[in-house]
Amino acid sequence: MNKIIKIALDGPSGSGKSTIAKALSEKLKILYLDTGAMYRAVALKAIKCGVDPFDEEGVKTFIDDIDLKIKYENGSQRTILDGEDVSGKIREPHVSMAASNISSLKCVRLKMVEMQRKIASEISCVLDGRDIGSYVLPNADYKFFITASADVRAKRRFDELSAKGHKVDFEELKKEIIQRDYNDSNREFSPLVKSKDCIEIDTSSMTIEQVLDAVMSYIK
Ligand code: DC
Repeated sequence: MNKIIKIALDGPSGSGKSTIAKALSEKLKILYLDTGAMYRAVALKAIKCGVDPFDEEGVKTFIDDIDLKIKYENGSQRTILDGEDVSGKIREPHVSMAASNISSLKCVRLKMVEMQRKIASEISCVLDGRDIGSYVLPNADYKFFITASADVRAKRRFDELSAKGHKVDFEELKKEIIQRDYNDSNREFSPLVKSKDCIEIDTSSMTIEQVLDAVMSYIK
C-alpha cells in the first residue's frame, strides 16, 4: 500500500500559501485542502443566522450540526454550505474579517480540526492554514511556513479583489491584513505560530515559480 503523505503549509493572510498549496497538489497529484475556506464558511453561516462572530453561545447553536461539505470539481475545491455552493461568497471582504474573528472560538476550531484530520487520514494531501503543522497535523511529513511583508500581502489581495471587480482601498486592506494577523496570532486556542520544525520561506520578492521550486527542493 502506498504511504499517505501529508504536507502542512501555514502562514499569515495573503502570503501566497494557497497558490503554492494548489500548485503543489497538482504537481504531486495529491489533494489540496484549503482550511481557511472552512472557517470562512462558518463565518458565512453566522452572518446568515444573524450571529455575531464573537458570540460563542450563539455559534454553539449551529456549529455541531453545521452542514458543511468540501467537494472537488475538476481538481478545484468547492465549499458547500447548507447545500449551496458558497465558494465565491466566502471570499467577500466582510466574510474575511468575520472568519478571522470566528476562528478564535474554541468550539469552531475543535469542529474544523476534527473534519480536517478526518480528511487527512484518508488520502495524501497538502493542507494550508494557520495551525496545520503546529496543531492539526503535528506529524506531517513536511511543514512549511510561508510569509511575506504586510505591504506585499495587501498588494496581492488588492490585485486579486480588483480583478474580480471588487472596489477596494489599498490602505483599508492593509489595515485589515494587520488586524487579521494580530487576531490569528493572539487567539488563545491554536494560534498562528511557526512551529520549530517548519521550513520558513519569505515570498515577498519571489515569484510563484520560485517559491514552488524552493518547496519542491525540500520534498525531493
Ligand atoms: O486563509 P484564509 O485567509 O482563507 O483564512 C480565513 C481565516 O480563517 C483567517 O483569518 C484565519 C482563519 N484560519 C484559521 O484560523 N486556521 C486555519 N487553519 C485556516 C484559517
